[in-house]
Amino acid sequence: MGRVIVVGSLNIDAIVHVERHPSPGETLLGSDLETRFGGKGANQAVAAARAGARVSMIGRVGDDAQGDEYLRRLESFKIDTSFCRRSTGVSTGHAAIAVAADGENTIIVSPGANGRVSVGDLAPLSSLTADDVVLASLEVPLDVVEEATRRASAAGARVVLNLAPYASLDPEVLDLADPVVVNQHEAELLAADGRSPRSVLVTSGSAGSRWGDDEVPATRADEVIDTTGAGDTYCGTLAAGLAAGLSPHDAMEAASSAAALSVGWQGAQP
Ligand code: RIB
Ligand code: NA
Repeated sequence: MGRVIVVGSLNIDAIVHVERHPSPGETLLGSDLETRFGGKGANQAVAAARAGARVSMIGRVGDDAQGDEYLRRLESFKIDTSFCRRSTGVSTGHAAIAVAADGENTIIVSPGANGRVSVGDLAPLSSLTADDVVLASLEVPLDVVEEATRRASAAGARVVLNLAPYASLDPEVLDLADPVVVNQHEAELLAADGRSPRSVLVTSGSAGSRWGDDEVPATRADEVIDTTGAGDTYCGTLAAGLAAGLSPHDAMEAASSAAALSVGWQGAQP
């Protein structure tokens, strides 16, 4: 059974619930502020750990109390944080999240320490084996994600590359990923960018997910409370399944059930 090595962000999520999302220029009153652990990278790491994988996280927090607290939290999930660094003079990443009554969210990320992740942080990738899965998302500098993908695939490890939030990557790097994971919105941006990577998995919320010709219907969610982090849960569980040697189809089914469970809870990571 391989390991899952996550390269990505750790954020503190500041969440306000609103009846509906504001229009540009509009002010709305919302709920009391909730503060939770988030960040696509760490959300994915937690999902992979909860799915039973051995997980290491490569990322950065600031030299603040929230950063320390965050690393302790990941350790409580048995996630190896020995490759997570604390950057001085910068705060831990934050995300401002509005969740509307229908469960849909809008998110603005302030990268903070996530922006300091560097190629030098990728040294642990030198010990990868062909059973390992590297899972990366785009809230850390893109050159780091591209280099992580190249190194992992040179070591024969599988790379799951989540293009969230969407950014344009080197097409040769995209072709190394198996799969590139995008939601419908990101799939449109990818197509508009003229990119068609060799292996693409598209998640479409309640319409299910498709990886090449393989389609898996969405697991029905009993109740939709908050969709924040559903995509991260999907990616983390998928990576855990692939590292455990499940077939792509079975890993997609596991990912889809986990994502359906996640939307029934407030917050991305809980
Ligand atoms: O995908 C959800 C996540 O996006 C949130 O936890 C937020 O921190 C942003 O990274
Ligand atoms: Na949730």
